[in-house]
Amino acid sequence: MTDELPPIPPHPLPVSARAPGKCILFGEHAVVHGAPELVVAIDLHTQVLVGPSSVTSLNHDPDATAKNPYFREGLARAWPDGPPIEVRAVSRIPRAAGLGSSAAFAAAFAAALGAARGGLGRPELAQRSFEIERGAQGVGSAGDTTAVVGGGYLAVNGGDGPVLWTVAGADRRWTVRRVADPKWSWVVCHSGIPRATGPAVRAVGARLARPDGPTLLAEFDRVARDGIRAVGAGDRPAVAELMRRNQELLREVGVSHPRLEALIAAAEPAAEAAKLTGAGAGGSIVALPRPGREADLVRRLARAGGLAFVVRAEPNGAALVDAPPSP
Ligand code: MEV
Repeated sequence: MTDELPPIPPHPLPVSARAPGKCILFGEHAVVHGAPELVVAIDLHTQVLVGPSSVTSLNHDPDATAKNPYFREGLARAWPDGPPIEVRAVSRIPRAAGLGSSAAFAAAFAAALGAARGGLGRPELAQRSFEIERGAQGVGSAGDTTAVVGGGYLAVNGGDGPVLWTVAGADRRWTVRRVADPKWSWVVCHSGIPRATGPAVRAVGARLARPDGPTLLAEFDRVARDGIRAVGAGDRPAVAELMRRNQELLREVGVSHPRLEALIAAAEPAAEAAKLTGAGAGGSIVALPRPGREADLVRRLARAGGLAFVVRAEPNGAALVDAPPSP
């Protein structure tokens, strides 16, 4: 396995780390069942500051281990038997929006604690961040945490080229490969309807267990595989057509929502295509703006009641903030 991004270097407490959000372009839900996914890290971040303390707390709340499963899992998996710590977390990633806020917290927290424990390689950070998120959520794939650890465009269970790393779950493994960055901007729009990943993943699992499930999963697989190729080749017309097909499939498995459909329709004049991104059933859409129409697209989505913003790929995944240069 290669590891193209630098490891997280050692750093004593206090230490600060950050991780980007993510946007899934193809293959959400199907990736949980082993199909490919294309995900891009986006330029919104969560930042975590960890320092020594007499009492463990998160944002001054000493009861956070009982209230926040991501914090509890992070401590259990990345700081076992460690001394008390004070943790502060701030984020520009909207929560419960399908944009990777929980994965970014898991990865930034694991990176900071890993640095304080002598540093760690990126494949190990990807594995640990996945375990934190999976432990907190109970279901899900390694796609979100891999995206925020690896940065840029990444294919999970697909693509070609060298494998960056493999993440192991209890029931399956996900391989991760780099996809060439086409240097496009995207517009993401939050519907304002919060969604929870766990229930949506379980509902899709039940849907795919029905007799036509394997046929649907095979089509998800084809669309994501072609989508990975089309994004890597910078082929916008092909990407747009595949996004529309992916949205049809997501609608078919029951994770679209009338508000998401309204936003997709509102995007149409200024976008080559749009689809939901993430778990769906609320959350956000992602649109590929027509060249030069980003601002127009943002305005149209705002008029339709969404919170829209332009995002670009964030090439660096999780990293220490103001870390000393690697030796
Ligand atoms: C959620 O961002 C993406 C899902 O595919 C769940 C997962 O992969 O863990 C719906």
